[in-house]
Amino acid sequence: MPIHSDMTRILIVDDEEFVRWPLKRRLEKEGFEVFEAGNCRQGMSVLVQQEIHLAVLDLKLPDGDGVSLLGDIRKKFPDLPVIMMTAFGSVETAVEALKLGAFDYIAKPCNLEELILLVNKALEMTSLREEVKNLRSKVSGRPGFETVVGSSPRLRHVIDQAKIVSETDSTNVLILGESGTGKNLLAEAIHNRGPRAGKPFITVTCTAMPGELIESELFGHEKGAFTDAKTAKKGLCEVADGGTLFLDEIGDIPLSLQAKLLGFLENHTFRRIGGTRDLKVDVRIIAATNKNLKQEVRAKNFREDLFYRLNVSSIEMPPLRDRADDIPLLVMRFIGDLNLKLRKNIKGVSEQALNAMMRYPWPGNIRELKNMLERSIIFARGEELGRRDFPLDLFFGPEEGDEEPVMILPPEGIDFEKLERSLVKQALERTGGNQAKAGRLLNFTRDQMRYRVKQFGLTAADTEN
Ligand SMILES: Nc1ncnc2c1ncn2[C@@H]1O[C@H](COP(=O)(O)OP(=O)(O)OP(=O)(O)O)[C@@H](O)[C@H]1O
Ligand SMILES: [Mg+2]
Repeated sequence: MPIHSDMTRILIVDDEEFVRWPLKRRLEKEGFEVFEAGNCRQGMSVLVQQEIHLAVLDLKLPDGDGVSLLGDIRKKFPDLPVIMMTAFGSVETAVEALKLGAFDYIAKPCNLEELILLVNKALEMTSLREEVKNLRSKVSGRPGFETVVGSSPRLRHVIDQAKIVSETDSTNVLILGESGTGKNLLAEAIHNRGPRAGKPFITVTCTAMPGELIESELFGHEKGAFTDAKTAKKGLCEVADGGTLFLDEIGDIPLSLQAKLLGFLENHTFRRIGGTRDLKVDVRIIAATNKNLKQEVRAKNFREDLFYRLNVSSIEMPPLRDRADDIPLLVMRFIGDLNLKLRKNIKGVSEQALNAMMRYPWPGNIRELKNMLERSIIFARGEELGRRDFPLDLFFGPEEGDEEPVMILPPEGIDFEKLERSLVKQALERTGGNQAKAGRLLNFTRDQMRYRVKQFGLTAADTEN
Protein backbone atom coordinates (compact mmCIF):
# COMPACT_ATOMS: atom_id res chain seq x y z
CA MET A 1 0.00 0.00 0.00
CA PRO A 2 1.56 3.30 -1.02
CA ILE A 3 1.73 5.41 2.08
CA HIS A 4 0.38 8.63 0.72
CA SER A 5 -2.20 7.48 -1.77
CA ASP A 6 -5.71 8.83 -1.41
CA MET A 7 -6.69 5.29 -0.62
CA THR A 8 -5.32 5.78 2.86
CA ARG A 9 -8.30 6.16 5.17
CA ILE A 10 -8.18 7.68 8.60
CA LEU A 11 -10.85 7.59 11.27
CA ILE A 12 -11.17 10.38 13.84
CA VAL A 13 -13.21 9.60 16.95
CA ASP A 14 -14.00 12.64 19.05
CA ASP A 15 -17.32 13.92 20.35
CA GLU A 16 -16.58 17.57 19.60
CA GLU A 17 -17.13 18.62 16.05
CA PHE A 18 -14.87 21.64 16.53
CA VAL A 19 -12.03 19.25 17.37
CA ARG A 20 -12.67 16.92 14.45
CA TRP A 21 -13.13 19.60 11.83
CA PRO A 22 -9.64 21.14 11.68
CA LEU A 23 -8.03 17.69 11.88
CA LYS A 24 -10.18 16.45 9.07
CA ARG A 25 -9.36 19.44 6.88
CA ARG A 26 -5.66 19.19 7.49
CA LEU A 27 -5.56 15.42 6.87
CA GLU A 28 -7.59 15.81 3.72
CA LYS A 29 -5.16 18.38 2.50
CA GLU A 30 -2.48 15.75 2.90
CA GLY A 31 -4.48 13.51 0.60
CA PHE A 32 -6.03 11.22 3.18
CA GLU A 33 -9.64 10.18 3.15
CA VAL A 34 -11.14 11.01 6.54
CA PHE A 35 -14.03 9.37 8.38
CA GLU A 36 -15.51 10.80 11.55
CA ALA A 37 -17.27 9.32 14.55
CA GLY A 38 -18.63 11.03 17.64
CA ASN A 39 -18.53 8.08 20.04
CA CYS A 40 -17.17 4.56 20.56
CA ARG A 41 -20.15 2.84 19.01
CA GLN A 42 -20.01 4.90 15.81
CA GLY A 43 -16.25 4.47 15.70
CA MET A 44 -16.54 0.69 15.82
CA SER A 45 -19.24 0.70 13.20
CA VAL A 46 -17.07 2.71 10.78
CA LEU A 47 -14.19 0.30 11.38
CA VAL A 48 -16.35 -2.67 10.58
CA GLN A 49 -17.73 -1.13 7.40
CA GLN A 50 -14.68 0.58 5.94
CA GLU A 51 -11.14 -0.45 5.47
CA ILE A 52 -9.46 2.05 7.79
CA HIS A 53 -5.69 2.38 7.90
CA LEU A 54 -5.25 4.51 10.99
CA ALA A 55 -7.42 5.79 13.84
CA VAL A 56 -7.11 8.91 15.98
CA LEU A 57 -9.05 8.55 19.23
CA ASP A 58 -9.99 10.97 21.94
CA LEU A 59 -9.51 9.72 25.48
CA LYS A 60 -12.91 10.85 26.71
CA LEU A 61 -15.96 9.81 24.76
CA PRO A 62 -19.61 10.06 25.69
CA ASP A 63 -20.25 6.29 25.70
CA GLY A 64 -17.01 5.06 27.22
CA ASP A 65 -13.40 6.06 27.28
CA GLY A 66 -10.90 5.95 24.46
CA VAL A 67 -8.74 3.43 26.29
CA SER A 68 -11.46 0.81 26.36
CA LEU A 69 -12.23 1.53 22.70
CA LEU A 70 -8.54 1.05 22.04
CA GLY A 71 -8.74 -2.34 23.78
CA ASP A 72 -11.66 -3.38 21.56
CA ILE A 73 -9.82 -2.20 18.47
CA ARG A 74 -6.70 -4.19 19.38
CA LYS A 75 -8.85 -7.30 19.67
CA LYS A 76 -10.69 -6.87 16.40
CA PHE A 77 -8.07 -5.11 14.26
CA PRO A 78 -4.70 -5.99 15.74
CA ASP A 79 -2.74 -4.33 12.95
CA LEU A 80 -4.50 -0.96 12.99
CA PRO A 81 -2.27 1.86 14.26
CA VAL A 82 -3.99 4.11 16.78
CA ILE A 83 -2.99 7.59 17.92
CA MET A 84 -4.59 8.84 21.15
CA MET A 85 -5.46 12.46 21.84
CA THR A 86 -5.11 13.42 25.47
CA ALA A 87 -6.18 16.53 27.29
CA PHE A 88 -3.67 18.37 29.39
CA GLY A 89 -2.79 16.52 32.59
CA SER A 90 -3.78 12.99 31.62
CA VAL A 91 -0.33 11.66 30.92
CA GLU A 92 -0.92 8.60 33.07
CA THR A 93 -3.82 7.49 30.94
CA ALA A 94 -1.76 8.17 27.86
CA VAL A 95 0.93 5.87 29.17
CA GLU A 96 -1.69 3.24 29.85
CA ALA A 97 -2.83 3.63 26.24
CA LEU A 98 0.71 3.08 25.02
CA LYS A 99 0.92 -0.07 27.09
CA LEU A 100 -2.28 -1.24 25.46
CA GLY A 101 -0.66 -0.88 22.09
CA ALA A 102 -1.43 2.66 20.93
CA PHE A 103 1.17 3.86 18.45
CA ASP A 104 1.65 7.19 20.21
CA TYR A 105 -0.26 10.03 21.83
CA ILE A 106 -0.62 13.70 21.16
CA ALA A 107 -1.65 16.43 23.57
CA LYS A 108 -4.79 18.47 22.99
CA PRO A 109 -5.27 20.98 21.49
CA CYS A 110 -3.45 19.16 18.72
CA ASN A 111 -0.58 20.73 16.93
CA LEU A 112 -1.58 19.82 13.39
CA GLU A 113 1.95 19.58 12.04
CA GLU A 114 2.92 17.25 14.85
CA LEU A 115 -0.14 15.14 14.14
CA ILE A 116 0.71 14.83 10.44
CA LEU A 117 4.22 13.73 11.36
CA LEU A 118 2.88 11.10 13.73
CA VAL A 119 0.34 9.87 11.21
CA ASN A 120 2.98 9.42 8.55
CA LYS A 121 5.31 7.70 10.94
CA ALA A 122 2.60 5.30 12.08
CA LEU A 123 1.57 4.48 8.52
CA GLU A 124 5.14 3.92 7.52
CA MET A 125 5.64 1.55 10.44
CA THR A 126 2.57 -0.51 9.63
CA SER A 127 3.34 -0.69 5.97
CA LEU A 128 6.85 -1.82 6.82
CA ARG A 129 5.48 -4.41 9.20
CA GLU A 130 3.06 -5.67 6.56
CA GLU A 131 5.83 -5.73 4.02
CA VAL A 132 8.06 -7.73 6.30
CA LYS A 133 5.30 -10.22 6.97
CA ASN A 134 4.48 -10.52 3.28
CA LEU A 135 8.11 -10.72 2.32
CA ARG A 136 8.69 -13.36 4.90
CA SER A 137 5.93 -15.48 3.44
CA LYS A 138 7.08 -14.74 -0.13
CA VAL A 139 10.72 -15.50 0.56
CA SER A 140 9.76 -18.68 2.25
CA GLY A 141 7.39 -19.41 -0.62
CA ARG A 142 4.62 -19.76 1.90
CA PRO A 143 1.44 -17.94 1.04
CA GLY A 144 0.03 -15.57 3.66
CA PHE A 145 -3.17 -13.52 3.72
CA GLU A 146 -2.22 -11.60 0.58
CA THR A 147 -3.23 -14.68 -1.41
CA VAL A 148 -6.78 -14.41 -0.13
CA VAL A 149 -8.05 -11.84 -2.60
CA GLY A 150 -11.07 -9.62 -1.92
CA SER A 151 -12.04 -6.30 -0.43
CA SER A 152 -15.71 -6.84 0.39
CA PRO A 153 -16.63 -6.15 4.02
CA ARG A 154 -17.61 -9.82 4.45
CA LEU A 155 -14.20 -11.05 3.35
CA ARG A 156 -12.32 -8.38 5.23
CA HIS A 157 -14.10 -9.43 8.39
CA VAL A 158 -12.98 -13.01 7.76
CA ILE A 159 -9.37 -11.92 7.25
CA ASP A 160 -9.45 -9.81 10.41
CA GLN A 161 -10.69 -12.80 12.39
CA ALA A 162 -8.10 -15.05 10.77
CA LYS A 163 -5.29 -12.64 11.62
CA ILE A 164 -6.31 -12.66 15.24
CA VAL A 165 -6.44 -16.44 15.51
CA SER A 166 -3.21 -16.80 13.57
CA GLU A 167 -1.43 -15.00 16.35
CA THR A 168 -2.88 -16.99 19.20
CA ASP A 169 -1.04 -20.15 18.69
CA SER A 170 -2.84 -22.89 20.45
CA THR A 171 -6.57 -22.42 19.92
CA ASN A 172 -8.38 -24.75 17.61
CA VAL A 173 -9.94 -23.13 14.57
CA LEU A 174 -12.93 -24.39 12.65
CA ILE A 175 -13.40 -23.04 9.13
CA LEU A 176 -16.88 -23.42 7.70
CA GLY A 177 -18.19 -22.62 4.27
CA GLU A 178 -19.47 -23.99 1.01
CA SER A 179 -17.23 -25.86 -1.36
CA GLY A 180 -14.75 -23.68 -3.23
CA THR A 181 -14.95 -20.67 -0.91
CA GLY A 182 -11.27 -20.80 0.03
CA LYS A 183 -11.17 -22.79 3.26
CA ASN A 184 -7.90 -24.54 2.44
CA LEU A 185 -6.35 -21.29 1.30
CA LEU A 186 -7.30 -19.59 4.57
CA ALA A 187 -6.10 -22.49 6.72
CA GLU A 188 -2.67 -22.30 5.13
CA ALA A 189 -2.51 -18.54 5.46
CA ILE A 190 -3.36 -18.79 9.17
CA HIS A 191 -0.53 -21.25 9.65
CA ASN A 192 1.96 -19.26 7.58
CA ARG A 193 1.30 -15.98 9.30
CA GLY A 194 1.43 -17.37 12.82
CA PRO A 195 4.25 -18.35 15.16
CA ARG A 196 4.29 -21.88 13.75
CA ALA A 197 5.20 -20.70 10.23
CA GLY A 198 8.19 -22.66 9.02
CA LYS A 199 7.02 -25.70 10.94
CA PRO A 200 5.05 -28.36 9.09
CA PHE A 201 1.51 -27.76 7.85
CA ILE A 202 0.05 -31.21 7.41
CA THR A 203 -3.30 -31.87 5.81
CA VAL A 204 -5.32 -34.94 6.62
CA THR A 205 -8.33 -35.33 4.39
CA CYS A 206 -10.98 -37.12 6.36
CA THR A 207 -13.16 -38.04 3.44
CA ALA A 208 -13.45 -40.90 0.99
CA MET A 209 -11.45 -43.26 3.16
CA PRO A 210 -12.56 -45.98 5.54
CA GLY A 211 -12.12 -45.13 9.21
CA GLU A 212 -9.22 -47.52 9.80
CA LEU A 213 -7.21 -45.98 6.99
CA ILE A 214 -7.69 -42.46 8.27
CA GLU A 215 -6.77 -43.68 11.71
CA SER A 216 -3.50 -45.15 10.53
CA GLU A 217 -2.78 -42.03 8.46
CA LEU A 218 -3.44 -39.84 11.45
CA PHE A 219 -1.94 -41.83 14.30
CA GLY A 220 0.41 -44.25 12.53
CA HIS A 221 0.87 -47.90 13.37
CA GLU A 222 3.38 -50.24 14.92
CA LYS A 223 4.98 -53.09 13.05
CA GLY A 224 2.62 -56.02 12.80
CA ALA A 225 -0.43 -54.00 13.84
CA PHE A 226 -2.26 -55.50 10.86
CA THR A 227 -1.37 -57.80 7.99
CA ASP A 228 0.17 -55.17 5.77
CA ALA A 229 2.03 -53.38 8.52
CA LYS A 230 5.47 -54.72 7.76
CA THR A 231 7.19 -51.76 9.38
CA ALA A 232 6.16 -49.19 11.92
CA LYS A 233 4.87 -45.91 10.48
CA LYS A 234 4.64 -42.47 12.01
CA GLY A 235 1.21 -40.88 12.03
CA LEU A 236 0.68 -37.51 10.36
CA CYS A 237 0.07 -35.98 13.77
CA GLU A 238 3.67 -36.85 14.62
CA VAL A 239 4.91 -35.46 11.33
CA ALA A 240 3.05 -32.23 12.17
CA ASP A 241 4.71 -31.94 15.60
CA GLY A 242 5.48 -28.29 16.33
CA GLY A 243 3.28 -27.18 13.44
CA THR A 244 -0.34 -27.36 12.36
CA LEU A 245 -2.52 -30.35 11.68
CA PHE A 246 -5.21 -29.43 9.19
CA LEU A 247 -8.18 -31.79 9.38
CA ASP A 248 -9.89 -31.18 6.07
CA GLU A 249 -13.50 -32.28 5.46
CA ILE A 250 -13.84 -33.01 9.17
CA GLY A 251 -17.62 -33.38 8.71
CA ASP A 252 -16.95 -36.64 6.86
CA ILE A 253 -14.91 -38.31 9.54
CA PRO A 254 -16.52 -41.65 10.46
CA LEU A 255 -18.23 -41.84 13.85
CA SER A 256 -16.00 -44.79 14.76
CA LEU A 257 -12.95 -42.52 14.76
CA GLN A 258 -14.51 -39.50 16.43
CA ALA A 259 -13.99 -40.67 20.02
CA LYS A 260 -10.31 -41.28 19.43
CA LEU A 261 -9.92 -37.93 17.74
CA LEU A 262 -11.64 -36.25 20.67
CA GLY A 263 -9.20 -37.88 23.05
CA PHE A 264 -6.34 -36.60 20.96
CA LEU A 265 -7.73 -33.07 20.87
CA GLU A 266 -8.17 -33.06 24.62
CA ASN A 267 -4.63 -33.87 25.66
CA HIS A 268 -2.65 -34.18 22.44
CA THR A 269 -1.69 -37.73 23.29
CA PHE A 270 -2.43 -40.78 21.17
CA ARG A 271 -1.37 -44.32 20.49
CA ARG A 272 -0.29 -45.71 17.18
CA ILE A 273 -2.46 -48.58 16.01
CA GLY A 274 -1.16 -51.69 17.69
CA GLY A 275 0.92 -49.55 20.02
CA THR A 276 1.08 -49.65 23.77
CA ARG A 277 2.83 -46.37 24.50
CA ASP A 278 1.08 -43.01 24.78
CA LEU A 279 2.81 -40.49 22.54
CA LYS A 280 2.46 -36.73 22.90
CA VAL A 281 2.77 -34.03 20.26
CA ASP A 282 2.46 -30.25 20.14
CA VAL A 283 0.17 -29.37 17.25
CA ARG A 284 -2.33 -26.68 16.50
CA ILE A 285 -5.55 -27.98 15.01
CA ILE A 286 -7.38 -26.30 12.17
CA ALA A 287 -10.40 -28.14 10.82
CA ALA A 288 -12.60 -27.36 7.85
CA THR A 289 -15.84 -28.63 6.43
CA ASN A 290 -18.52 -27.67 3.96
CA LYS A 291 -21.11 -29.54 5.96
CA ASN A 292 -23.44 -27.93 8.44
CA LEU A 293 -21.90 -29.45 11.55
CA LYS A 294 -24.69 -28.44 13.89
CA GLN A 295 -27.10 -30.29 11.65
CA GLU A 296 -24.77 -33.27 11.59
CA VAL A 297 -24.70 -33.19 15.39
CA ARG A 298 -28.49 -33.17 15.45
CA ALA A 299 -28.60 -36.06 12.99
CA LYS A 300 -26.19 -37.94 15.30
CA ASN A 301 -23.53 -38.21 12.60
CA PHE A 302 -21.15 -36.03 14.52
CA ARG A 303 -20.36 -36.14 18.23
CA GLU A 304 -21.47 -33.06 20.08
CA ASP A 305 -18.44 -33.04 22.40
CA LEU A 306 -16.10 -33.19 19.40
CA PHE A 307 -17.98 -30.34 17.78
CA TYR A 308 -17.52 -28.12 20.85
CA ARG A 309 -13.87 -29.06 21.10
CA LEU A 310 -13.25 -28.02 17.51
CA ASN A 311 -15.48 -24.99 17.55
CA VAL A 312 -13.38 -22.89 19.92
CA SER A 313 -13.15 -20.20 17.30
CA SER A 314 -14.96 -20.61 14.04
CA ILE A 315 -14.65 -18.67 10.84
CA GLU A 316 -17.32 -18.73 8.18
CA MET A 317 -16.20 -18.26 4.59
CA PRO A 318 -19.03 -16.40 2.84
CA PRO A 319 -20.23 -17.81 -0.48
CA LEU A 320 -19.15 -15.81 -3.53
CA ARG A 321 -22.73 -14.81 -4.39
CA ASP A 322 -22.86 -12.86 -1.12
CA ARG A 323 -19.77 -10.84 -1.98
CA ALA A 324 -20.09 -10.08 -5.67
CA ASP A 325 -18.01 -6.97 -4.96
CA ASP A 326 -14.95 -9.22 -4.83
CA ILE A 327 -15.47 -10.54 -8.34
CA PRO A 328 -13.63 -7.81 -10.32
CA LEU A 329 -10.54 -8.13 -8.11
CA LEU A 330 -10.60 -11.92 -8.25
CA VAL A 331 -11.02 -11.87 -12.02
CA MET A 332 -8.04 -9.56 -12.46
CA ARG A 333 -5.89 -11.62 -10.12
CA PHE A 334 -6.77 -14.90 -11.83
CA ILE A 335 -6.26 -13.44 -15.31
CA GLY A 336 -2.79 -12.29 -14.22
CA ASP A 337 -1.91 -15.72 -12.82
CA LEU A 338 -3.36 -17.56 -15.79
CA ASN A 339 -1.59 -15.33 -18.32
CA LEU A 340 1.67 -16.42 -16.77
CA LYS A 341 0.70 -20.04 -16.50
CA LEU A 342 -0.77 -20.31 -20.01
CA ARG A 343 1.54 -17.79 -21.71
CA LYS A 344 -1.33 -15.59 -22.78
CA ASN A 345 -1.87 -11.89 -22.80
CA ILE A 346 -5.49 -11.40 -21.84
CA LYS A 347 -6.19 -7.84 -20.77
CA GLY A 348 -9.55 -8.23 -19.07
CA VAL A 349 -13.20 -9.11 -19.52
CA SER A 350 -15.92 -7.15 -21.28
CA GLU A 351 -18.31 -5.11 -19.20
CA GLN A 352 -21.17 -7.32 -20.28
CA ALA A 353 -19.37 -10.45 -19.14
CA LEU A 354 -18.34 -8.85 -15.87
CA ASN A 355 -21.93 -7.83 -15.20
CA ALA A 356 -23.06 -11.36 -15.90
CA MET A 357 -20.41 -12.62 -13.49
CA MET A 358 -21.65 -10.32 -10.77
CA ARG A 359 -25.19 -11.66 -11.21
CA TYR A 360 -24.35 -15.34 -11.55
CA PRO A 361 -24.85 -17.28 -8.28
CA TRP A 362 -21.57 -19.31 -8.48
CA PRO A 363 -22.69 -22.57 -6.89
CA GLY A 364 -19.06 -23.76 -7.03
CA ASN A 365 -17.85 -20.43 -5.64
CA ILE A 366 -14.31 -19.24 -6.31
CA ARG A 367 -13.14 -22.57 -7.62
CA GLU A 368 -15.84 -22.37 -10.29
CA LEU A 369 -14.86 -18.81 -11.19
CA LYS A 370 -11.22 -19.78 -11.49
CA ASN A 371 -11.95 -22.86 -13.59
CA MET A 372 -14.30 -20.96 -15.87
CA LEU A 373 -11.66 -18.31 -16.49
CA GLU A 374 -9.01 -20.91 -17.16
CA ARG A 375 -11.18 -22.66 -19.74
CA SER A 376 -12.09 -19.36 -21.37
CA ILE A 377 -8.51 -18.16 -21.52
CA ILE A 378 -7.28 -21.36 -23.11
CA PHE A 379 -9.72 -20.93 -25.97
CA ALA A 380 -9.87 -17.14 -26.04
CA ARG A 381 -9.85 -15.51 -29.46
CA GLY A 382 -9.16 -11.92 -28.52
CA GLU A 383 -7.37 -9.97 -25.83
CA GLU A 384 -10.59 -9.27 -24.01
CA LEU A 385 -12.81 -12.09 -22.82
CA GLY A 386 -16.37 -11.50 -23.94
CA ARG A 387 -19.66 -13.23 -24.13
CA ARG A 388 -18.56 -15.71 -26.79
CA ASP A 389 -15.69 -16.91 -24.60
CA PHE A 390 -17.85 -17.97 -21.68
CA PRO A 391 -20.39 -20.76 -21.26
CA LEU A 392 -23.99 -19.72 -21.79
CA ASP A 393 -24.77 -20.62 -18.18
CA LEU A 394 -23.05 -17.49 -17.09
CA PHE A 395 -25.51 -15.30 -18.93
CA PHE A 396 -28.65 -17.28 -18.31
CA GLY A 397 -27.97 -18.80 -14.91
CA PRO A 398 -27.47 -22.44 -13.99
CA GLU A 399 -30.00 -24.73 -15.60
CA GLU A 400 -33.26 -24.72 -13.79
CA GLY A 401 -35.49 -27.73 -14.09
CA ASP A 402 -38.04 -26.66 -16.70
CA GLU A 403 -41.11 -27.58 -14.72
CA GLU A 404 -39.91 -26.55 -11.26
CA PRO A 405 -41.94 -23.54 -10.20
CA VAL A 406 -39.85 -20.80 -8.61
CA MET A 407 -42.51 -20.27 -6.01
CA ILE A 408 -45.76 -22.04 -5.25
CA LEU A 409 -48.75 -19.80 -5.82
CA PRO A 410 -50.85 -19.91 -2.66
CA PRO A 411 -54.42 -21.19 -3.18
CA GLU A 412 -55.91 -17.79 -2.36
CA GLY A 413 -53.66 -16.08 -4.93
CA ILE A 414 -51.34 -13.18 -4.22
CA ASP A 415 -51.14 -9.38 -4.51
CA PHE A 416 -48.37 -9.35 -7.08
CA GLU A 417 -47.69 -5.64 -6.99
CA LYS A 418 -47.33 -5.73 -3.22
CA LEU A 419 -44.93 -8.65 -3.52
CA GLU A 420 -42.85 -6.90 -6.14
CA ARG A 421 -42.70 -3.69 -4.12
CA SER A 422 -41.64 -5.57 -1.05
CA LEU A 423 -38.87 -7.43 -2.92
CA VAL A 424 -37.57 -4.23 -4.50
CA LYS A 425 -37.59 -2.55 -1.10
CA GLN A 426 -35.73 -5.46 0.51
CA ALA A 427 -33.13 -5.46 -2.23
CA LEU A 428 -32.55 -1.75 -1.71
CA GLU A 429 -32.33 -2.19 2.04
CA ARG A 430 -29.84 -4.97 1.70
CA THR A 431 -27.61 -2.91 -0.57
CA GLY A 432 -27.84 0.31 1.41
CA GLY A 433 -29.97 1.94 -1.27
CA ASN A 434 -27.56 1.19 -4.13
CA GLN A 435 -29.86 0.75 -7.12
CA ALA A 436 -27.28 -0.93 -9.34
CA LYS A 437 -26.48 -3.56 -6.73
CA ALA A 438 -30.13 -4.00 -5.78
CA GLY A 439 -30.91 -4.46 -9.47
CA ARG A 440 -28.40 -7.26 -9.68
CA LEU A 441 -30.10 -9.12 -6.84
CA LEU A 442 -33.36 -9.00 -8.79
CA ASN A 443 -31.86 -9.50 -12.24
CA PHE A 444 -33.15 -6.07 -13.28
CA THR A 445 -31.26 -3.65 -15.47
CA ARG A 446 -30.55 -0.22 -14.12
CA ASP A 447 -33.50 1.20 -16.06
CA GLN A 448 -35.88 -1.48 -14.90
CA MET A 449 -34.79 -0.75 -11.35
CA ARG A 450 -35.12 2.99 -11.66
CA TYR A 451 -38.57 2.57 -13.15
CA ARG A 452 -39.73 0.47 -10.22
CA VAL A 453 -38.28 2.73 -7.56
CA LYS A 454 -40.32 5.50 -9.13
CA GLN A 455 -43.39 3.37 -9.70
CA PHE A 456 -43.48 2.28 -6.07
CA GLY A 457 -42.60 5.74 -4.80
CA LEU A 458 -39.69 4.39 -2.76
CA THR A 459 -37.67 7.08 -1.08
CA ALA A 460 -34.27 7.03 0.55
CA ALA A 461 -35.91 6.79 3.96
CA ASP A 462 -37.66 3.56 2.89
CA THR A 463 -34.39 1.91 2.08
CA GLU A 464 -32.41 2.73 5.15
CA ASN A 465 -31.78 -0.27 7.26
N1 LIG B 1 -10.16 -15.19 -1.88
C1 LIG B 1 -9.50 -15.92 -2.78
N2 LIG B 1 -8.55 -15.36 -3.54
C2 LIG B 1 -7.88 -16.07 -4.46
N3 LIG B 1 -8.10 -17.36 -4.70
C3 LIG B 1 -9.03 -17.99 -3.99
C4 LIG B 1 -9.77 -17.31 -2.98
N4 LIG B 1 -10.61 -18.19 -2.41
C5 LIG B 1 -10.42 -19.36 -3.04
N5 LIG B 1 -9.47 -19.25 -3.99
C6 LIG B 1 -9.03 -20.32 -4.90
O1 LIG B 1 -10.19 -21.09 -5.22
C7 LIG B 1 -9.91 -22.48 -5.21
C8 LIG B 1 -10.75 -23.18 -4.16
O2 LIG B 1 -10.33 -22.81 -2.86
P1 LIG B 1 -10.17 -23.87 -1.67
O3 LIG B 1 -9.66 -25.17 -2.17
O4 LIG B 1 -9.44 -23.21 -0.57
O5 LIG B 1 -11.71 -24.03 -1.30
P2 LIG B 1 -12.40 -24.93 -0.19
O6 LIG B 1 -13.35 -24.02 0.54
O7 LIG B 1 -11.39 -25.65 0.61
O8 LIG B 1 -13.27 -25.93 -1.05
P3 LIG B 1 -13.76 -27.44 -0.67
O9 LIG B 1 -14.81 -27.31 0.38
O10 LIG B 1 -14.31 -27.93 -1.96
O11 LIG B 1 -12.55 -28.17 -0.21
C9 LIG B 1 -8.41 -22.60 -4.96
O12 LIG B 1 -7.77 -22.67 -6.20
C10 LIG B 1 -8.07 -21.31 -4.24
O13 LIG B 1 -6.73 -20.94 -4.47
MG1 LIG C 1 -11.02 -27.69 0.79
